[in-house]
Amino acid sequence: MKSLQLSQAYLGALLLSLAGVNGQGCSNTCPPINYGTPVPALCEGDMADTFANTEKVYDVCHGSGQTRSFSIDSLKGKIAVFANFYTGCNAGRRESGVFAHVAQRYFETHGEDKIVFIQSVKGGGTCAQWASIFQSDAVSLYPGSGIVPREMPLSVNDVNYEIRDDLFTTPFGHPSYAILDHTGMVRHKFIGPCCGYESFYSCTADIAKSLDQQLTDYLEPLLTELETSHIDEPTNKDPNVFNPNPPVDDPQLGDGDQTVCVSGTIGDWSEWSPCSVQCGSTPGIQFRTRSVQANDCTRAVPVETRSCQATFPCNDPSTACVAETGASYTVETVVTGLDSPRDVDFHPTPGLHLRDYSEGRQFYPDEGQEAWVVNGGNHSVSIVASLGTERQTTISRRDRGYYHYMINATALSFNKVANSGRIPDRDSFNYWAICNDNPNNYMGTKEANYFMGPTLYDSRPRNRNTVNRLGQECRPEEPCYFLHADMLHESPSCVGITHDPEVDTAYGTVYWAFDATGNRETGQLVRFDFQQPHGPGSMDHSVAAIRRYVEVELERGDPGVHAGMVVHPTRREVFVAVPGANKIIVVGADSGDFARTAREEYPIYSSALPSFEYSVWECVDQRVFAEGIDTPSGMALSDDGSRLFVAERGSGNILVFEIESASLLYTIETGLTTIGGMAFPPATVGATSMLYFVDEQTNSLYRINPDEECSTPVQSRVNPSFTVAVNSATANIDGFSLSRDYECSVDPIVPDASFFDQVHDDTGYADDNPDVQSNMTGMDAGAALLADRTDCGFDSELNFDALLLGGYFCHRCLPEEYLNCDTGGICSNVQWEGYTCDNEFFVTKNSTGDIELQNANGSALEPSLTQLLFDVTYRVNVLGNISLCANIKDKVECASKGPLLFTVEDGEKTTVSFTVNGENDSAFELDVALRRSDNTSSGVQKFGLTGMMILSMIALKLTF
Ligand SMILES: *[C@@H]1O[C@H](CO)[C@@H](O)[C@H](O)[C@H]1NC(C)=O
Ligand SMILES: *[C@@H]1O[C@H](CO)[C@@H](O)[C@H](O)[C@H]1NC(C)=O
Ligand SMILES: *[C@@H]1O[C@H](CO)[C@@H](O)[C@H](O)[C@H]1NC(C)=O
Ligand SMILES: *[C@@H]1O[C@H](CO)[C@@H](O)[C@H](O)[C@H]1NC(C)=O
Repeated sequence: MKSLQLSQAYLGALLLSLAGVNGQGCSNTCPPINYGTPVPALCEGDMADTFANTEKVYDVCHGSGQTRSFSIDSLKGKIAVFANFYTGCNAGRRESGVFAHVAQRYFETHGEDKIVFIQSVKGGGTCAQWASIFQSDAVSLYPGSGIVPREMPLSVNDVNYEIRDDLFTTPFGHPSYAILDHTGMVRHKFIGPCCGYESFYSCTADIAKSLDQQLTDYLEPLLTELETSHIDEPTNKDPNVFNPNPPVDDPQLGDGDQTVCVSGTIGDWSEWSPCSVQCGSTPGIQFRTRSVQANDCTRAVPVETRSCQATFPCNDPSTACVAETGASYTVETVVTGLDSPRDVDFHPTPGLHLRDYSEGRQFYPDEGQEAWVVNGGNHSVSIVASLGTERQTTISRRDRGYYHYMINATALSFNKVANSGRIPDRDSFNYWAICNDNPNNYMGTKEANYFMGPTLYDSRPRNRNTVNRLGQECRPEEPCYFLHADMLHESPSCVGITHDPEVDTAYGTVYWAFDATGNRETGQLVRFDFQQPHGPGSMDHSVAAIRRYVEVELERGDPGVHAGMVVHPTRREVFVAVPGANKIIVVGADSGDFARTAREEYPIYSSALPSFEYSVWECVDQRVFAEGIDTPSGMALSDDGSRLFVAERGSGNILVFEIESASLLYTIETGLTTIGGMAFPPATVGATSMLYFVDEQTNSLYRINPDEECSTPVQSRVNPSFTVAVNSATANIDGFSLSRDYECSVDPIVPDASFFDQVHDDTGYADDNPDVQSNMTGMDAGAALLADRTDCGFDSELNFDALLLGGYFCHRCLPEEYLNCDTGGICSNVQWEGYTCDNEFFVTKNSTGDIELQNANGSALEPSLTQLLFDVTYRVNVLGNISLCANIKDKVECASKGPLLFTVEDGEKTTVSFTVNGENDSAFELDVALRRSDNTSSGVQKFGLTGMMILSMIALKLTF
């Protein structure tokens, strides 16, 4: 309990966003500034279609005007006023009443053909709830005005933040408004008057009502323009988009969340459908339906299912097989020497990340696939480049702050959606996320505070997505690290993650994760939408939507067991292996509804601002796909989406299921005992992909190699007449589902604003707390004070997350034996940038063309004054076409365009000589003489590292 309280206290004070700085605060600057870089956005004077998807159709969920759905294009010919409010935002609540009043007034004076008002509702509560709130607010703000918002404004349930991201690119503040004229041009875009006020009442009615004047001032000239323009009527009016008949089921205005109970009629049950399976012993399901009128009070269920058995055994010949295994197969070893591998995935664009040269090594970006393996053992990713070709080679890479961002990682997943139709600047194709099986205990050195979740990376090696130790773009000769693009903190001890290939969100950064901590009793499914990634170097977590599916209870298996997850792209189903319950479940990716904020029950989260959604979703569609599997682990979907491959860790078999019938088709035997993650490489035309998987105990990556083609495929278990019945039910019954709990109903609770911080620049890191998050925006230098903290203890006051957020990669309190220098090196922190190691050197040409020895921060060294120690591994990165050779113990080692690593053991030899050859053949020598020293505390004491005996030193002499 202590750790929980501790965390909450920290979170309240310190782990908040810095929206006042990286976030926009209440400034109207457009494009908005994010971390020193303007982000592409729609601004005044832009045509909406230069940026927004103006064809996307939105349904109106409240407002009894004629418009029941619209696209931005369909609004051409009239003025459209958009409002961006967040649930939990006091300022938004204050202004929404004014907005509603103005909207209704214009509706009454000008009509819906001239002007519409639209508000995006997101983050919690239903449209009806919000409508009743702004309605009563409007009435109390304008007592006796007689204007009651009914037809306007139009509310849109902006569940995927599409309107927000198209029109109000964050960090543009909120509440905010965009006014489009009749041609579809953005004429005004501004932040509302209550922005920046801490509470509902501190933005007085008068201040809030200044929005009325502001809107009026903007709208009157536009209306005049509209009157005098002779524009043609829009010709592309879709009759479905403009429904002239108000819908019959329009919610009663003003009644908020009360539903009117009208008893309806219930039809008779149909016959049971045919059983879903036509042969075999795996049980299938059958269903029956009945008609249920919408307003029925009894919540009668329209669909019922029951289990059934096929009448016949399957008569597959003994040679029956699946394409991926062929008629017979070999389990082939692809890579050995991994370190407790947990998962594997394939890079969608092989060669993109490493290009042709990295860390002093040559790669061949055009040859072969590229597998990325997560090593749970040493918190790294092994990239297997040019897989299966003669060039195949493996390189291991990690995060400089891996003890927080990539710790005991157990799963990783790429965004592989190549043609999403998204704006390239926003598309997160080639990004990947990793999930950390750790409660945030800094390699066991710190009491867990559960502030842990998935980390997002952009695999493109640009824009500081990969950095050297100092945080600069990697030179091709030196060690290189991943720098994260975003991180969220709501799934400690995560054992599974998968990207959702949906194309509705603006960025494509939706990932599903297996949070093994859950409610501390059982794990849960969590959907992370990172939305706009904060980008390398920033720590702004205020823009994201995280939804907990508390009904989806997940049990992790033994430590280290990866839980496979797959989103089926066309069925929109999330398959989850539950290793601790020997089953696979299926969850409807687009099912469920907002129930309440998660902030109360799950008080550890990334940001306190209203733009950060953290909610509990309920009434999700879920069913068991397969049971009785001995510890299901890795999962992969066949190219055509028809078969699911499941690693049965307990038996060492890989089970092949037919997705549609949930029947076991085939069993692959591997003889291994600790199979983890599995993946297929991207499909190549005309070829069947081979299945790859990792095995923990043997530290290897394997694949199933078919020896000969499969000529007698296993017959489908799906009963065709069942498929016919499903198709007909889908066509006839609105929202037909075989996995919905029709009796479940959500009674959503609008989150109390007290769960949110309202004001950007007064809270969290950005203000009085000195532990600011980044120097790039010129914030408080007080974080420097953290450098002197020595209270490193397991349960001390010092929060290690604050160290990372305060710009420390190297600190006496961070896990000492795991720092990122080569053996024996001592790191020095360079705040906000990175760190240097005292055992790293560079040999390069300086600006006058002379070859120079430099230390890790780039300053020239006088070799004769440079001392080296015995038993320390030195890394000399040789930049460019210089060749450096070392003669150690009569052995010569050379390097060019890369590192030369050497260690001199105590007592081995008294001199080591180096030869350097420049391009112009100007050779020079470095003589290394050993010098014995009995000074054990000569200023080289490693932070907290005791007992390190420095017996001898080496003097390095450079002669020309
Ligand atoms: C981690 O393990 C991999 C695979 O064994 C290895 O190649 C790599 O050098 C290790 N990385 C570190 C930092 O120890
Ligand atoms: C990593 O995972 C293994 C197995 O799950 C566990 O034994 C070990 O303690 C974990 N290490 C860290 C640093 O979390
Ligand atoms: C932040 O960085 C700038 C330039 O890199 C530097 O001039 C300034 O002193 C730094 N501020 C702090 C507080 O370290
Ligand atoms: C380049 O290196 C040479 C040799 O160390 C030195 O004499 C010279 O001053 C250096 N030039 C610059 C511009 O630092």
